[in-house]
Amino acid sequence: MLTEEQNTLLTQTGADTPMGRLFRRYWIPALLAEELPEADCPPVRVKLLGEQLIAFRDTKGRLGLLDEFCAHRTASLFFGRNEECGLRCAYHGWKYDVEGNLVDMPSEPEDSKFKSRIKQKAYPCVERGGVIWTYMGPADQQPELPELEWAMLGEGQRFISKRLQETNHMQAMEGGIDSSHVSFAHRFNLDDDPMHSGTEGNKYLKADTRPKFEVVESDGGLLIGARRNANDEEYYWRITQWIMPFYTIIPPFGTHNPLGGHAWIPIDDENCWAWSWNYHPTRDLTETELESMRNGDGIHAKYIPGTYRTLANKNNDYLMDREAQRQKKSFSGIEGIAAQDFSLQESMGSIADRTKERLGTSDAAIILARRRLIAALDHLDDETLPGMAVADQRVRSTSVLLPKETPFHEGARDALVVVEGENFVSI
Ligand code: FES
Ligand SMILES: [Fe+2]
Repeated sequence: MLTEEQNTLLTQTGADTPMGRLFRRYWIPALLAEELPEADCPPVRVKLLGEQLIAFRDTKGRLGLLDEFCAHRTASLFFGRNEECGLRCAYHGWKYDVEGNLVDMPSEPEDSKFKSRIKQKAYPCVERGGVIWTYMGPADQQPELPELEWAMLGEGQRFISKRLQETNHMQAMEGGIDSSHVSFAHRFNLDDDPMHSGTEGNKYLKADTRPKFEVVESDGGLLIGARRNANDEEYYWRITQWIMPFYTIIPPFGTHNPLGGHAWIPIDDENCWAWSWNYHPTRDLTETELESMRNGDGIHAKYIPGTYRTLANKNNDYLMDREAQRQKKSFSGIEGIAAQDFSLQESMGSIADRTKERLGTSDAAIILARRRLIAALDHLDDETLPGMAVADQRVRSTSVLLPKETPFHEGARDALVVVEGENFVSI
């Protein structure tokens, strides 16, 4: 349970809020590279951390992310012409380059000095791993580029999607670090999901629905161990990585299945982008895997065509099927792992009222993650923050059997870091 003040602190990420300042210190996944497929393609509206922006790829392929509203009289640059290395406002023709410099002002006299005094807000962008990332923080504090494992792999080894979630990012992320819901919300779907099926781990997951949680702070965030009974000598551990401030990596099932993970990125305080990726460090994804991911299976979701909004959404009660619920086809009657999650998360309201919760022992990770985020607010001007260093990002989740007496973070130490060119460890 949090106080109202703590809940506000945790959930607001506007430019003048403490958490907003913290998030702005990191590179942020802003849009899929496919949204700006080629030079001079149509600009795209992007809203991040409450700021309305416009993204474009100029004639030379350079990426720009500008304040959406023209510095002249605030018309939206969405209607602009993307041409000859700049975005030209459709109203009076002012033209900006990717850095926000005003490069042409055809509505003013040619000798006007006015032009040089105007600058459109612009954030640096970089394309990596099929994602366009941006940095919205102070220029002199820009960190190294992100090196999460999936972002560094070849194109054939990863699949990335994003979907709109109509909640604050925090309750979406709390779903990502809450391992105990898996035995319930996803209970009847562990076998038909290609990421889970036929693995040894799946057996333990279903047999023991009361995992014991142990959480340990890592340099970059948290190691969240969910312990289940396996046999007389060993426990089955599923270890989730939480990387500050907004990434989660799902513990895998077997080494043949791809790894999965998420980023939970605020659009504004009441909506977020749930980014999802699958990747395999030592092989390309198969056509069958890609097809099921494109189809919205597993951690991905089916869209309303032409959008990143999900087909099952709160306006249609997520296409809930009471008969399927009764017949134990799905625990909540909702189809698909992702929709099972976001339906319940959205049902909590756009910003969950954390003054009303009753947290149990299985919520230890959520409690600690909140604590770490709030604690980081006292270090906003530190040179490096947790999760920022490359070493904090080059980590993996794992699922392993360990002798009962071995602390999980020690027993699994080697399995928790990326070893380039080597497969991950999982049962
Ligand atoms: S509003 Fe954009 S040029 Fe006038
Ligand atoms: Fe889930």
